[in-house]
Amino acid sequence: MNTVLLINASPHGQVSQGHRLAMELLSSLRQRYPQLELVERDLGAQPLPPLGLDYAHALTTATPFDAPLFEVSEGLIRELERCDVLLIATPMHNFTLPAALKLWIDYVLRIHRTFSSGPEGKVGLLKDRPVHVLVSSGGFHQGERAAQPDFLTPYLRQVLNTLGLFDLQFTYLQGLVFGDEAVRATLDEARGALSSQPLFTPLVCA
Ligand SMILES: Cc1cc2nc3c(=O)[nH]c(=O)nc-3n(C[C@H](O)[C@H](O)[C@H](O)COP(=O)(O)O)c2cc1C
Repeated sequence: MNTVLLINASPHGQVSQGHRLAMELLSSLRQRYPQLELVERDLGAQPLPPLGLDYAHALTTATPFDAPLFEVSEGLIRELERCDVLLIATPMHNFTLPAALKLWIDYVLRIHRTFSSGPEGKVGLLKDRPVHVLVSSGGFHQGERAAQPDFLTPYLRQVLNTLGLFDLQFTYLQGLVFGDEAVRATLDEARGALSSQPLFTPLVCA
């Protein structure tokens, strides 16, 4: 194991609860893989450019992969191809994923490049690898206290599957707007769940 790619989609950046937990997971991985490299893409601090007419045209016509129009897309896809583990820390925004993460998806989920499309449907072209998704939310959308729908999980699962990524684990940090005690409880629960994952076995519960 050499490289972890961390996609942080929270506008809270480095102080987001999802990002903090991702950093804990990383240090537990470093106990076993001291040379581990972290490649971090902070979609809030460094927003991706919006998709323009030229890019949309290139995507639906026969355009070479090395065309300058694909530079951003190619850079993001290469980051994905190089990583051994993908960590995504994302908040829920209005029942689904934030616009910043959707834009990242629009650059990496690219026909003929990261998936093929034929009579059998869309088939991912990336090598499978472990993907951990930390979903933070102000309220509850899973379990007994669920009071809203979750369109994030099924959508992101479909996107990752279409890239060829099937080794997926979702962990939820819920109720983050209900004060310090609620935050502590959801973090402890998430740490407990993650510490039973083979990848994060040495995770130390705080
Ligand atoms: C635009 C916006 C929309 C949000 N929509 C939801 C929502 O639909 N459901 C929910 O539980 N929380 C919602 N929240 C709260 C965030 O999910 C919560 O503040 C965030 O996940 C905190 O996590 P973080 O510290 O990792 O950034 C929303 C927040 C913002 C800014």
